[in-house]
Amino acid sequence: MYTQSFSVSDEPGKALKPVASTEPAELMARFDARIDADGRIEPQDWMPEAYRKTLVRQISQHAHSEIVGMLPEGNWISRAPSLKRKAILIAKVQDEGGHGLYLYSAAETLGTSRDQMLDALHSGKAKYSSIFNYPTLNWADVGVIGWLVDGAAIMNQVPLCRCSYGPYARAMVRVCKEESFHQRQGYEALLVMMKGTDEQRAMVQDAVNRYWWKCLAMFGPPDADSPNSVQGMRWGIKRISNDDLRQKFIDATVPQAKVLGVTLPDPDLKWNEERGHYDYGQIDWDEFWQTVNGNGPCNKERLSTRVKAHNDGQWVREAALAHARKQQQRAMKEAA
Ligand SMILES: [Fe+2]
Ligand SMILES: [Fe+2]
Repeated sequence: MYTQSFSVSDEPGKALKPVASTEPAELMARFDARIDADGRIEPQDWMPEAYRKTLVRQISQHAHSEIVGMLPEGNWISRAPSLKRKAILIAKVQDEGGHGLYLYSAAETLGTSRDQMLDALHSGKAKYSSIFNYPTLNWADVGVIGWLVDGAAIMNQVPLCRCSYGPYARAMVRVCKEESFHQRQGYEALLVMMKGTDEQRAMVQDAVNRYWWKCLAMFGPPDADSPNSVQGMRWGIKRISNDDLRQKFIDATVPQAKVLGVTLPDPDLKWNEERGHYDYGQIDWDEFWQTVNGNGPCNKERLSTRVKAHNDGQWVREAALAHARKQQQRAMKEAA
């Protein structure tokens, strides 16, 4: 979901600096030529340090977003209204855990360790998508997260399947297929609620009202305030700008809202014949930065739940390691 990372530093209070290159000219020229030819960069290839750092930041922030993204919906597994919805939600939350694992693995190929990345997340140093720092107040939130949050994620992530870094691009192919299922299950759950009682319809509208603007902010700050996007695009990491992705998302979502029968909470939202796109109102960027910088309604709760889950799982990691060691010893004995 999560190209906001191009504009969000992991260092508190520090803006991302423009990239200065002091790399060897010949290697740099070869790297640039590969990028210009739309080729892939693989882990064993030479790459400029700034490219490596940018990818580590983006892929690890993306991985953290998948893992923390399990929490708001995970809260509803025990309260899902039927066995069918419970099974779907468990599968979806499990998918997000899988996405996190592919992405941590992709980031590890750049020379950073899983422990380093997890330490950065658990100490509050690393960022993750701001959308997961809002509460899930009613069952319709689960549907709206599928429809809008996973929908925004798809918009962001489909172009990442063509990212210049091979392991990231390949991980995204499967992630996107699963995100597409997530989006549809959310939309379908909302369609069912909209055919239900007035109270159910009000729950859906309430969830849409709370999530709409936050989903638009997920695409990151406006292009004019996102100078590093240009470098990301030059490197073939980012293919479409924040504002263009946001516009594509709005244009795709307005007709879906009509079919669903909900109102999107923006009085300025209207079709612009000349542009061939929907115009929309002002996003509250102050609120976005407040949340990114740790002051959203659920930042502290999400982080402490995540740290507790990690600590509670320590015995599983130890048991798995002990089992692997035993198997290795057995294999060596048989070979001797
Ligand atoms: Fe995901
Ligand atoms: Fe998802």
